Amino acid sequence: MTLDFLGTLQRTHTCGELRSTNSGETITLMGWVNRRRDHGNLIFLDLRDRTGITQIVLDKEVSPEAHAKAEAARPEYVVAVTGILRNRGEGLANPNMPTGEVELVAHSLLLLNDAKTPPFSPAEDAIANEEVRLQYRYIDLRRAEMQHNFALRSRVAMAIRNYLVSQGFLEIETPFMTRSTPEGARDYLVPSRVHPGHFYALPQSPQIFKQILMISGFDRYFQIARCFRDEDLRADRQPEFTQIDLEISFPQMSTIFAVAEGFLRAAFSAAGITLPDAPFIQMTYDQAITRYGIDKPDMRLPAIVDLSATLTAELRNTLKIDPALPVLGFTIPRVGELSGTARKALLSEIRAFFGDSGLDLLDLARLRTNEAFAPLAESIATKLSEELQRFHNSALTPEDLAVVITPKPGTPAMWNYDPQWIYKRVGALRLELARKYADKHKLFEQTHTAADFKFLWVTDFPMYEWNEETKNWDAAHHPFTSPHEEDIKSGALVNDKGSVRALAYDIVLNGTELGSGSIRIHRKDVQSEIFRSLGMSDEEAKARFGFFLDALEYGTPPHGGIALGLDRIVMILAGAASLREVIAFPKTAKAIDLMVDAPTTVSDQQLRELSLRVATRS
Ligand code: AMO
Repeated sequence: MTLDFLGTLQRTHTCGELRSTNSGETITLMGWVNRRRDHGNLIFLDLRDRTGITQIVLDKEVSPEAHAKAEAARPEYVVAVTGILRNRGEGLANPNMPTGEVELVAHSLLLLNDAKTPPFSPAEDAIANEEVRLQYRYIDLRRAEMQHNFALRSRVAMAIRNYLVSQGFLEIETPFMTRSTPEGARDYLVPSRVHPGHFYALPQSPQIFKQILMISGFDRYFQIARCFRDEDLRADRQPEFTQIDLEISFPQMSTIFAVAEGFLRAAFSAAGITLPDAPFIQMTYDQAITRYGIDKPDMRLPAIVDLSATLTAELRNTLKIDPALPVLGFTIPRVGELSGTARKALLSEIRAFFGDSGLDLLDLARLRTNEAFAPLAESIATKLSEELQRFHNSALTPEDLAVVITPKPGTPAMWNYDPQWIYKRVGALRLELARKYADKHKLFEQTHTAADFKFLWVTDFPMYEWNEETKNWDAAHHPFTSPHEEDIKSGALVNDKGSVRALAYDIVLNGTELGSGSIRIHRKDVQSEIFRSLGMSDEEAKARFGFFLDALEYGTPPHGGIALGLDRIVMILAGAASLREVIAFPKTAKAIDLMVDAPTTVSDQQLRELSLRVATRS
């Protein structure tokens, strides 16, 4: 088979746009053969480009030459077709295709390129073997779902950019080859040829640069910025990812919230979803932990309910519940009936989840609603106060699963070490059970309306996190975050680090952290003090951040900002389960690009030039 040359032929339309109003027009389309159906004298080709599919008819009587070429065409061949558009006959329209009312009767067909039989068909849904998808990413990206995801991503990014520019932000690029930025992950390093033994670090975020841009007087900066972090990868983490990064001079926290809410509204609107005008709800970190057991609550699920006040000392004694600890309950909606076997399995699953932590279920019978609380009512429930009654009466429908967790006497050490530990464990169980039932019971069924998306600001994060390994306090956000002014004045910074609150906030959507930010430290004395409190000597601080400490001394305005993960926003909007569905060329969980096969070894010559020697090779 000989291939045709394109010559001067031009396409007149795309494959997704033709309607019956175009009938009678002479049209040239170009694209890929999605499917081919051969009925002898009639061959049908579904021609695909990124806008959609048009049915092409090759009738031997109309053009024997075009028909002969169509006989040779196979899926994924690249073709150009010229013909006359016509309405499909009575009853032949395909209502599932936007172009389903029409078909193009070809009088000429060019075979522009052939294609080997692909390892999977882009005309079908994603195959299960993701490694093959990633290796042949160019074919995977041809699938309609992927084309949709990247069109969405482009629209979302553009909407955000336009919104920020309309709000007076300047887009300024910052370097990729730089010094380490402390965001808590390992750095990707780039060796310098000119300075043997010296390395650039790829930025974990543009954090220091954007602060310096405030010192430089730019007032409102943003960047759709690529960041690089060598960390353990998960479905919502990639080694390189994209942030919508911004910084504002002289802000209140509310200034930053309003900007982020504004661009999220613009982004969602670009995806066809109108978010309500009301400001997003806010809660403090402590409230998030005690109500949801986690710092990124999924507000689509009901909160944890503290039932402690409903238990008399006598009842606690009868039920063998620790007198000092909270009794927490929660519900998972729409779980439906559970068989006896399913309940038994669930009970042991929950017991296994808690292990020997000292947490327990009230008991199996009380796990399920209907029956769950009925036996309780007969026996001990009469002794429970109205609040517990209210909890299970109002919050529950017969479809819901109710769980009440009771700490056994004999407090585990964890409780003393972290007073919020019980809430966190119960919160983790809440999510585990929600996930367990989510798919089967359509817990998180998407309606693609604003109701699917529950935003939340979490504020007042702790300033420090205790690191058991290093026996040191780490910055919970990053070391440029300002503590609450009162906590500086009160001396808590020195005397009681665990209690210091940061002017740090997260924006959370449906249980995913979309972004983090803070009001920054703008005074050198406070910044030096924070470095010291993190166990960094003045010498070390000078060596790592001397340039920044210097810059702070030349008239630094109060400033603050935030960064949101663009990949995560698009992932949620696309309803995708992993960032890999919305990053064109992502890496595997082992940080490998299977298509280009990176990382690779390099030649001895390159190593010599970089003054490097490899000690071990796997
Ligand atoms: P933080 O480290 O919390 O803050 O990052 C902000 C947001 O970036 C996204 N993100 C990631 N997305 C994909 N893969 C990753 N490995 C990954 N890591 C982070 C998340 C996260 O919420 N400089 C600060 C921001 C600031 O203070 O202004 C920062 O980078 O959506």
